[in-house]
Amino acid sequence: MPRLLSGIQPTGELHIGNYLGAIKNWVLLQGSYETFYCIVDLHAMTTPYEPKEMSQRTLELAKALLACGIDPQQSVFFVQSHVKEHTELAWVLMCLATMGELSRMTQFKEKSSEQKGHATAGLFTYPVLQAADILLYKAEVVPVGEDQVQHLEFTRDVCRRFNSRFGQFFPEPKPLLSKTPRIMGLDGQTKMSKSRNNHIPLLAAPEEISSLLKGAYTDPARLRRHDPGHPEICNIFTIHKGFSTQELVSSIESDCRTAGIGCTDCKKILAENMAKSLEPIRERYLRLNDSEVLEVLCAGATKAQSVAKETMKQVREKIGLLLV
Ligand code: TRP
Ligand code: SF4
Repeated sequence: MPRLLSGIQPTGELHIGNYLGAIKNWVLLQGSYETFYCIVDLHAMTTPYEPKEMSQRTLELAKALLACGIDPQQSVFFVQSHVKEHTELAWVLMCLATMGELSRMTQFKEKSSEQKGHATAGLFTYPVLQAADILLYKAEVVPVGEDQVQHLEFTRDVCRRFNSRFGQFFPEPKPLLSKTPRIMGLDGQTKMSKSRNNHIPLLAAPEEISSLLKGAYTDPARLRRHDPGHPEICNIFTIHKGFSTQELVSSIESDCRTAGIGCTDCKKILAENMAKSLEPIRERYLRLNDSEVLEVLCAGATKAQSVAKETMKQVREKIGLLLV
């Protein structure tokens, strides 16, 4: 099976946008690829963060991912900072990356403008560390969302540059673009995110799900109950596709257009279906204890380290360092 790697930052709790956009797909990919899933805590240091919260966030994220169905028997599941070779390879790649190409990264431009003059070199070189994550395991496939395509293109560029300078070594990783739709926030304004507080937590209790949905933005054309709607532009409809059956989705689609269903009822049905699908995840999450999760991460780190050490041994040779 081809090798696949993806990463997720331990910033804030998982929400249904992360779940439908990435995690659900990660779980499914486990049967078809040799999967490596990494919690990228070093990437989370590139913007201001609270040191007291980092380790807890990492552990909580690991627990949530396991509850979602990441299976440590099928996947190498680990924390980036537990494998020192990530930063070592990042240095090697930094000596191949140019200031010019890193300056053109749209994520850097966006995030650095938010930092108003306090953007760090870590934020600037973020894509280099990401390239190291991927190349360290010689991953051939990387499932990514639209917003990470440019970083993957950069990874492919440094990969080619390494190979042409030092001899063929790394396979060129290909993006696996998921067909999953972009989940908007409950305010309907921007992408769902914890920092904008427009999210539904993945581990929300059923009552919380329905109360959050009640206030959610829908099709603005449906001011009154009998106004016909446009499901294709409604975020609630998009979320329905992630949690409701195909038949139900089709009937909501036509009922919405003819004003046969109101938004209140549509949301009520969605809340029930979400609660039903998320219940097993919530249950697994509540049953997992910290020491169990730490053990899983420790075993994952050991597996990842053995691959990483072998790659770095060969890289040191290739780039011409003195070996003793
Ligand atoms: N930059 C990715 C994101 O924000 C996270 C990430 C880090 C990643 N390293 C990776 C994704 C390697 C894929 C492969 O979503
Ligand atoms: Fe959206 Fe459902 Fe209202 Fe249609 S009925 S606008 S799909 S919430």
